[in-house]
Amino acid sequence: MPIVNRIADFHPDLTRWRRELHAHPETAFEEHRTSDFVAARLEEFGLKVHRGLAGTGLVASLEGKRSGSHTIALRADMDALDVAERNHFDHASQNPGKMHACGHDGHTTMLLGAARYLAETRNFAGTVRFIFQPAEENEGGGRVMIEEGLFEKFPAEAVFGMHNWPGLPTGTFAVREGPILAAFDIFELTVKGKGSHAAMPHLGVDPVVAAAQIVSALQTIASRMVSPLDSAVVTVTQIHGGDTWNVIPDEVVLRGTCRSFKPEVQAATETAIRRIAEGVAGALGASVEMRYERRYPPTVNSAAETILAADTAADIVGESKVNRDATPSMGAEDFAFMLGEKPGCYILVGNGEDAANLHNPHYDFNDEILPLGASYWARLVERVLV
Ligand code: NI
Repeated sequence: MPIVNRIADFHPDLTRWRRELHAHPETAFEEHRTSDFVAARLEEFGLKVHRGLAGTGLVASLEGKRSGSHTIALRADMDALDVAERNHFDHASQNPGKMHACGHDGHTTMLLGAARYLAETRNFAGTVRFIFQPAEENEGGGRVMIEEGLFEKFPAEAVFGMHNWPGLPTGTFAVREGPILAAFDIFELTVKGKGSHAAMPHLGVDPVVAAAQIVSALQTIASRMVSPLDSAVVTVTQIHGGDTWNVIPDEVVLRGTCRSFKPEVQAATETAIRRIAEGVAGALGASVEMRYERRYPPTVNSAAETILAADTAADIVGESKVNRDATPSMGAEDFAFMLGEKPGCYILVGNGEDAANLHNPHYDFNDEILPLGASYWARLVERVLV
């Protein structure tokens, strides 16, 4: 059973919607135009739309033509990134410095495509909920929707998500039971020394030298402290300090991110960063203040829902095009919060082998896969809600 014919019929509409969204990217909690666009489409399909969860979030519910007591939720993300687009095609970003560089324009469109088809056919029993969430990138819009009562107001027994994946061939899916994406933490280390004249370093305490040694020493966490059979990333992404040539500054700020799958690795990493930063700084006469935040938990697929998702994907593209044992990524996803509340599955759909990577200024969602993703959603509903 390949792509749903009726969805293939409106592929040109899907492409037009996707490009319209791509041209008008909006970042965390500011997806007003996008939210209006989604609401307008859903209302055209005859769905009643609930707005306002997490600000710009939307939820629409649809009942099948057969009665049934089961309910599932499908979720798409709507936000863009603070990236300056370097594509020059007609649908390139019209908002300077903002870009749909993660394909959430495509995710939103695929779920709209499924909603349109399911509203026309309603060939299922029970209720499907369409969740369009804001602020997936960094700000946890999914978590905010949950805190504002998403699953109390709109109960569901399971929740499903999907992300496009550059490098994965067009026409393929990848999924796995258990953790598929990592926990995402951030840290900030303020290294405090004593400013002085650059020509008289002995009269001060140099936080630049201390910060440099802390950056080096942090590399030993993943290489020497975490079991070689476990996974961890500690990446320093920012170093801020100093203003001019001849002054040793008072302090230097380091920022970065940690990734892990297991709670014990996550905890050990946090402890090790603190111990190393304080120890190295202390040895050099400096001190450190540390801020550490656990932003997103790991994204963990439940067993039964992963089988349902993989079987559905196999219906669309064939068993040989579905990798049921995908290698997990150290990327992260705030869909993890929804999977913390309900069983469910997050599946990857190939965006093309040669596609630019996620978050790259040359990235673009592959319009060819719009009917594929929409068909996956539609068939998933028809498979689960029987
Ligand atoms: Ni994304």
